[in-house]
Amino acid sequence: MEVLLESGGERVALVRINRPEARNALNSAVREQLARIFVELAGNDEIRCVVVTGTEKVFAAGADIKAMADAQPVDMMLRAGERNWAPIKDFPKPLIAAVNGFALGGGCELAMHADMIIAGASAKFAQPEIKVGIIPGAGGTQRLLRAVGKFKAMKILLTGEMVSAQEAEAMGLVTEVVPDGEVLDRALALARSIALLPPLAARKIKELVLQGGDLPLEAALVMERHAFHLMFATADQKEGMQAFIDKRSPNFKGL
Ligand code: CAA
Repeated sequence: MEVLLESGGERVALVRINRPEARNALNSAVREQLARIFVELAGNDEIRCVVVTGTEKVFAAGADIKAMADAQPVDMMLRAGERNWAPIKDFPKPLIAAVNGFALGGGCELAMHADMIIAGASAKFAQPEIKVGIIPGAGGTQRLLRAVGKFKAMKILLTGEMVSAQEAEAMGLVTEVVPDGEVLDRALALARSIALLPPLAARKIKELVLQGGDLPLEAALVMERHAFHLMFATADQKEGMQAFIDKRSPNFKGL
């Protein structure tokens, strides 16, 4: 298998892309396995937070160039890559990308599907599609624009040049930069701390940030208010507030 599903600790899953001989390039096998795993994790009530990572030197070097070099537009349409991205795009639980080494093209796009990106100090990000005569095809132009703004996004997209982890952090593409050897541990620690918190609240926060950001402010605020009210129907709201009053740790059940 090119994608491994492992335990990341209590209520945390670790998804590891493991095709180092091709620098974790996202061929159809990797994409299909990722899609299957994310469908499974979405439906697994034991899992509250997920970390996606690659190997020590590469997160993912993008779409598999060799598998599309001779493709025609109809081949690409029939491949319908968006079907395999959908379970990641629509993944309802917090998702953290732990990036060591290169996150290029589809690899950078995969990282941008996550809710947080923890990068090693030597990680490199790029959308180099322009250098091979194409453009990003898995949300790169849109997610990058929304993450870093027009002028940084344009430079990354139009030059294809690599951006260091430090630059990526400064422009808001990365959540935290940590020493190379500590990336996975930090991402898993963060995931485990989120997994202790009420999962329905986490799910709503993710939904609001992702969906609300593209709505007019007033509409997004109404959506937030409704979700806020809905939280008072959860057992975890009662538990969280009672635990505070009782001066004890809460035990959130996801109900
Ligand atoms: N697709 C297919 N094979 C790839 C690949 C890719 N994206 N990236 C690396 N490989 C293969 C190489 O062809 C090579 O295979 P062989 O051993 O058979 O020659 C092997 O992986 C090792 O690669 P390198 O020798 O180049 O390894 P390196 O460590 O010197 O460099 C790298 C690593 C910087 C990641 C470099 O391989 C690279 O630049 N890769 C291509 C990055 C790229 O252009 N990505 C964009 C793809 S398009 C895309 O992603 C579209 C989209 O939006 C969905």
